[in-house]
Amino acid sequence: MLTSTAGAPIPDNQNSITAGPRGPILLQDYQLIEKLAHQNRERVPERVVHAKGSAAYGTLTVTHDITKYTRAKLFDGIGKKTDLLLRFSTVAGERGAADAERDVRGFALKFYTEEGNWDLVGNNTPVFFIRDPMKFPDFIRTQKRHPRTNMRSATAMWDFWSLSPESLHQVTILFSDRGLPQGYRPMNGYGSHTFSFWNNDGERYWVKFHFKSMQGIRTWTNEEANAVIAEDRESAQRDLYEAIERGDFPRWRMCVQIMPEADAEKTSYNPFDLTKVWPHSEYPLIDVGVVELNRNPDHYFAEVEQASFSPSNVVPGIGYSPDKVLQARLFAYADAHRYRVGTHYEALPVNKPRSQVNTYHADGAMRFDAPVGTDAYYEPNSFGGPVEVPSVKEPPLRINGDATFYDHRAGNDDYTQPGNLFRLLGAEQQERLFSNIAGAMQGVPRFIIDRQLEHFRRADPRYAAGVEAAIARIHTAPASAPTTTADVIPQAAE
Ligand code: NDP
Ligand code: HEM
Repeated sequence: MLTSTAGAPIPDNQNSITAGPRGPILLQDYQLIEKLAHQNRERVPERVVHAKGSAAYGTLTVTHDITKYTRAKLFDGIGKKTDLLLRFSTVAGERGAADAERDVRGFALKFYTEEGNWDLVGNNTPVFFIRDPMKFPDFIRTQKRHPRTNMRSATAMWDFWSLSPESLHQVTILFSDRGLPQGYRPMNGYGSHTFSFWNNDGERYWVKFHFKSMQGIRTWTNEEANAVIAEDRESAQRDLYEAIERGDFPRWRMCVQIMPEADAEKTSYNPFDLTKVWPHSEYPLIDVGVVELNRNPDHYFAEVEQASFSPSNVVPGIGYSPDKVLQARLFAYADAHRYRVGTHYEALPVNKPRSQVNTYHADGAMRFDAPVGTDAYYEPNSFGGPVEVPSVKEPPLRINGDATFYDHRAGNDDYTQPGNLFRLLGAEQQERLFSNIAGAMQGVPRFIIDRQLEHFRRADPRYAAGVEAAIARIHTAPASAPTTTADVIPQAAE
């Protein structure tokens, strides 16, 4: 029986109520008004970044014992399973963007643990473009549309990157083969930041999370991806959805790198710098378990669009780190959710913890369950309301230093690790890296290209020479001739 939202049966859902067969329509046709008004409110704002995405439910099954590092209950027994939601995404494109674009992929996990939700909101890359969050809104502006042309601007991207050498590591990954995965299944995921583990004895370890695709890594060239996009803008969504429907469940090996707390003072690099990896030779991967995706959501809007992941959601045994970008993200995500989804977003079914939620903030728009009336509606109270749990207090973190604007570039080596990555690529991969970069630099003013070439040269002279040769081969117009007004920038900012 079709009903109105108030539950009354609807007599006719095909014909409006009109005065005579030719109209006009009567204001009393409430069902028509209701349908139109509801349609006007069917969208929430798209995510400001990572707007295009796909998600699926699954489980983490623990295969190895890491309880000496963390008391987190989801790891407390081999064979233990925890339900999860994993949302993949591209970063720059809007909700209707094509999936097969060269871009970083989001890899956002929500583990529904028995002690609350743990969200690990990572990417398919182990590093990021910036190490100070002050630069994030500007960086994202360069990835989105130019305010005047409403087109994306290669000049803005390379201007920003060439003025921000800390981006070189991530730029190298982005333009390497792995910057264009064949879908979400054949790519790795990384927590990227350094987080912390703490155990029952109050010891802290620094930790990085890795998810290794058990489907193997598969990537497309630019030409292959262009052909895919011409046929199918939803290639990654389709691949994921159909694999799960046919029972071919994608899996990832979950691994961690563990650093004893005191080592952070000793490494040659800052282990909380998001533009750096921890070399495997120093901190080898330790297996933890297997993530499997095995159920498609039933309703995209309710379960994927409204899914709200935040790095601030950790559970006892897992903590943050001093990583500056992580610190900013701890604020940014829940703030985005309150704006994008609403005050009570965490009570929506996809976000709701499987463990009991006992909090004193109850009011606000769209509270859609009815809390049991109680005298214990503030804290402290004498009426048996929920109280804090001192046993889950994280061990104290020693910090020091005077407050000021520290130059995050001072003494920082932006070149060795990108150079290491360049040198581990085979000759054919290096050739594709050169031509991918040269292709993306079409129309960029020469002085910006030169500034960027100097960064490539500092990473490895062969890197710069390869890109330079590819530019000479590929660029159809002189590099100094801007192709769009968006490609004109007033002056070098350096
Ligand atoms: P290793 O030789 O031990 O590791 C190399 C890593 O590079 C592997 O994790 C491999 O992933 C990954 N890799 C291979 N091709 C690419 C690519 N095109 N884009 C991104 N990653 C790729 O060396 P190190 O640990 O000393 O690291 C050397 C460089 O490897 C780093 O500077 C970094 O750029 C890159 N890297 C390092 C990671 C780390 O955590 N140490 C993680 C990922 C990349 P896989 O095993 O899946 O093939
Ligand atoms: C999404 C902010 C860096 C991964 C988002 C959203 C915001 C945001 C506001 C939209 C959230 C929503 O509406 O639900 C920031 C800020 C950053 C930053 C301020 C740095 C200062 C990063 C980094 C990573 C990352 C370093 C990965 C390591 C993601 C992912 C999503 C996302 C995967 C999509 C989550 C989903 O699937 O819903 N980011 N971000 N971001 N971000 Fe970031």
